[in-house]
Amino acid sequence: MRIGLLTGGGDCPGLNAVIRAVVVAGRRLHADETVGYLDGWRGVMERRSVPLEPGGVEDLLARGGTVLGSSRTNPFATDDGPRVTVDNIVKDGVDALVAIGGDDTLGVAHRLGSLGVRVVGVPKTIDNDLSGTEVTFGFHTAVETATEAIDRLQTTAESHHRVIVCEVMGRHVGWIAAYAGIAGGADEILVPEVPFGVDEVCSRIRKRHERGSYSSVVVISEGALPEPGPDLESAKVTATPRTVDQFGHAQLGGIGAWLAREIERRTGYESRHTTLGHIQRGGSPTAYDRVLATRFGVEAVAAVHDGTFGKMVALRSGRIVRVPLEEAIGRPKSLDIQLLTEVAAPFLG
Ligand code: F6P
Repeated sequence: MRIGLLTGGGDCPGLNAVIRAVVVAGRRLHADETVGYLDGWRGVMERRSVPLEPGGVEDLLARGGTVLGSSRTNPFATDDGPRVTVDNIVKDGVDALVAIGGDDTLGVAHRLGSLGVRVVGVPKTIDNDLSGTEVTFGFHTAVETATEAIDRLQTTAESHHRVIVCEVMGRHVGWIAAYAGIAGGADEILVPEVPFGVDEVCSRIRKRHERGSYSSVVVISEGALPEPGPDLESAKVTATPRTVDQFGHAQLGGIGAWLAREIERRTGYESRHTTLGHIQRGGSPTAYDRVLATRFGVEAVAAVHDGTFGKMVALRSGRIVRVPLEEAIGRPKSLDIQLLTEVAAPFLG
């Protein structure tokens, strides 16, 4: 078979490991040919692709990013986009498409499926916010990176008796903040799922000082916001989204800086902020993510050969399964709040 492969949305450690797995498993097990579309759906719309051979991908396991490039192009953003996309897949002689991406990329895959494209999805996102799978590859690596950063912030915060606010990624969900916050021993963990009270945060930090703990590390997701009221209005002005992509997602960032300023203003304690940003997305995947990405890639090839289209490979109870694409898209997988209310709670404040 001739398999088309693409990586869409924000890049993520482990994408290259999936590419390697699809190309090698496809060739060795089924004598498949694989072509890689460049820059996500944009490459399909512009008919830009490269042949992928096992020899050319064997070194990709540990490499971050995606050698195919990525974009946030949405074929459904224009009237003739879907038709052009479907026609190009046919012209390229692609029998089946493996789309590696998050909610947006897989949402497009699902819609193309209803136009007759034979597609299998592979879930990726560092945010871990994709429904239908317990974990996405890239999340583990991002948590490792954020945890290492928090460890480092702890020692400098301690030395200077400061409050340090660390802003991590997580547009809709607080998985990275919760995991890295717990792993890094954060004193506050603020997530998009639970609007926070600035005065409550300040009061807990004051109490820490009264107990003789003169430094605090606050971990906050980029998508977290204060409770409705004047603080929310003020935060929105600073952390106002700048550009919006073709899927309607705003570019976030700035809430950590705003909160650090407010903490310093209200408590008088010297405060700083650090935004980890794309450092969390780049670099080599952890061993866990390499294995998960490889398992997903091998299963995607198996799904193609079983003719199981319109599905996404997923991790459930430790096993790789295939779930309908519609189970994955449309609603983000929120944080398991018990992680905060039960696991993190005794260590916060
Ligand atoms: O891929 C998810 C994500 O990393 C979000 O956490 C973040 O808001 C967004 O991508 C950033 O995207 P971009 O790199 O396009 O600014």
